[in-house]
Amino acid sequence: APVELDERYKDSFDIGAAVEPHMLNGKDGQVLKRHFNSLVAENVMKPINIQPEEGKFTFKEADKIVKFAKKNKMELRFHTLIWHSQVPEWFFLDKEGNQMVDETDPKQREKNKQLLLKRLETHVKTIVKRYKNDITSWDVVNEVIDEYAGNDKGLRESPWYQITGTDYIKVAFETADKYAKKDAKLFINDYNTEVEPKRTYLYNLVEELVEDGVPIDGVGHQAHIQIGWPTLTEIEDSINMFADLGLDNQITELDVSLYGWPPRPAYPTYDAIPESEFERQAVRYDQLFELYEKLDDKISSVTFWGVADNHTWLNDRAEEYNDGVGVDAPFVFDNEYNVKPSYWAIID
Ligand code: XIL
Repeated sequence: APVELDERYKDSFDIGAAVEPHMLNGKDGQVLKRHFNSLVAENVMKPINIQPEEGKFTFKEADKIVKFAKKNKMELRFHTLIWHSQVPEWFFLDKEGNQMVDETDPKQREKNKQLLLKRLETHVKTIVKRYKNDITSWDVVNEVIDEYAGNDKGLRESPWYQITGTDYIKVAFETADKYAKKDAKLFINDYNTEVEPKRTYLYNLVEELVEDGVPIDGVGHQAHIQIGWPTLTEIEDSINMFADLGLDNQITELDVSLYGWPPRPAYPTYDAIPESEFERQAVRYDQLFELYEKLDDKISSVTFWGVADNHTWLNDRAEEYNDGVGVDAPFVFDNEYNVKPSYWAIID
């Protein structure tokens, strides 16, 4: 009988999965209980879902995941306190309802900045206080680097940045640190952390945060990767760079797409994917987990961005770039929850 994934890697790191609350009761729930010892919410803990209106926190969906994790003695990552995407508009509107980013008067800009930082503090404080006993790893900020931003530090020109500079990053970490459990870990999370020049932009920012005494514990590498990209060397170097700063690393959103970018052409249906694709993917998974295992003193957790191939955000992207028809197959369980060659590759 297949061995449990979390059991296989118990001496190295946690094995996690991203979930929606509705997945917990059905087949996904069974696979989660059996193979995973860590969870993260795919969407319901994001700002837009947790504080859709100012002062109106909605924890109902998030609580379902917390409850399931507790009941099954699983670790829980929080994703994500601060992000530029899936964030409600109201954060960035001034008291008159105007976009803060449009303000030109320096005095009023400073007032807006203080208001936004206050809102950020309230958001972080309310959530962290509520879940402090449930969460072991927090994504404090997500995707703050944008190599295409055009500024010399590669900082994403989100409203957060435009209104507060990098102060929002510091205040987010300081507030999370103030209210989180002492042994909880605070992460900066991003994608393409392996690839230059983004890797160096991220490194420079993190180094600066560490030097400034900002309470950051680790780097979350989303790892939305492909079969042939990035290279194993790039992945290894990235983990080592951040470990050398004294930080933890977690793989936070792993999926291995069958495609390049953009994902075109894509197979129109799951059944149209030839077995050879799964074999090709299994080689990648084999090499990847061999590397993670080799680096296991620098990686505390590996989380897949889903459970089985029947539910993946990559399908939305495959559809988007292929006139509405296209599927991907990024995980180690197939669309009917059977184990794939990739599963055996990381078990053996
Ligand atoms: C994605 C979810 O998987 C989708 O369901 C949602 O529509 C959009 O967000 N980077 C992240 C995740 O940090 O939060 C994103 O999740 C995927 C990319």
